[in-house]
Parts: sequence; structure tokens; C-alpha cells
Amino acid sequence: MCDLDHPHDHPAFGFLVDAPEIRALVDETRRLMKTISSDAERVDALRPAFARLLAADGWLPNDCAQADDKSRMGGGIGQYALYRAEDGSLCVFSLVVPAGAATPVHDHLAWGLVGIYRGTQDETVYRRVDDGAEPGRATLEVAKRQTLGPGEFYTLLPPTDDIHYVKTISDTPSISIHLLANDTACVWRHRFEPAKGTVTPFRSGYANAPCPPDV
Ligand SMILES: [Fe+2]
Repeated sequence: MCDLDHPHDHPAFGFLVDAPEIRALVDETRRLMKTISSDAERVDALRPAFARLLAADGWLPNDCAQADDKSRMGGGIGQYALYRAEDGSLCVFSLVVPAGAATPVHDHLAWGLVGIYRGTQDETVYRRVDDGAEPGRATLEVAKRQTLGPGEFYTLLPPTDDIHYVKTISDTPSISIHLLANDTACVWRHRFEPAKGTVTPFRSGYANAPCPPDV
């Protein structure tokens, strides 16, 4: 499942971690994807199911809750696929950010929910204020900052509030759980350097599952 030394020994798609709690969330998401056409209404309707996963203990294997010293995000950040739809329509993953470490500023390019399972994170959200006309350049402004602890979560509804970074402020690693309507770590998205005004293509990758050669 999340074995870093043998990531190719496990299925790359489907339930990489086959736990009833994860199946319950994916089943509910599939049901709501069929019955609610509005992304905003769908993520709202998903809140109770997502809260149940964050509140449950014992379903996240220890090896999906570890730092990853080969991380493409740097800082020992580990990203572990728990569920991946083969058609790229949905994924669930854990993100482990060691104490004091921060992600790059990045976007997600899909609707979803992100919540804290362990530890505490500071989140800084940006709004993009340029028109995107100049390749490689992006002008960002801080839109909001918030602190999140276990059980707290937020929704992603691009393009609103889709660009952010998170930093672990607890003494222990933070673990956040992500439910997103793409194959987040394998799609080409963006990382930003607000102080320099730059944006570059970014594919974070999973520690425990390969990405297709190019997507
Ligand atoms: Fe993120």
C-alpha cells in the first residue's frame, strides 16, 4: 500500500488502502457526483461523510503517515495515494508535512475537500490578480490565513481559493486528508513563488504509486 521501497508491487489504481472508512467516503462521493451537478452544492453535501473519515481512528496505515525524504515537494513531505480512479476523476490521499516544514505555493485544479487528521497546520490562501497573459509570470496576493487542527477542513472550488501553501505548526508532523476530483499528484498543475512573481509547471507525484509517463 504505502511501502516506499516497493511502490510497484501494489496496484496503482483503485483502493490502494482498502479500509471501510475510505470506501464509505468514495461511495458517497460517487453517489453525489451522479445526483448533484453543482460543484459547490456537491462539496457541501459531502461535508458529513468527510467529517466522519477525519473523526475515525485506525484506518490510515502507519506507512501512509510517514515523512518521505525523496519528496518532490521538498521538506520531507510525503504524499500517499489511498484511492485513485483509473479515469482520473477522483482520488483520496494523505499528505504528511513534518514539523516546521511547508509545502510550495501550489494549486489543485479540481473541486474537493481537505481536512486535518493529525497535528496542526497554518494555511495561507492566495488570489491571483494578473491576467495570466505573460508565460511563467503570476502575481499573487494573500487572500486569507487560517489555522486548522484535527477534524477541521475546507473545500476547494477552483478558481476560488485554489492557490495556497500549508505549514505544520505542531511539534509533530501534520497529516491532512484530501478528496479531490482529479488524480492530483499526477496532473500537471502549478507551483508559484509569490515574492519573485513566477509560476512553473508542477507534478508532485505519489510516494507509493507511479504516475503515467505524461498527462
Ligand atoms: Fe494543497
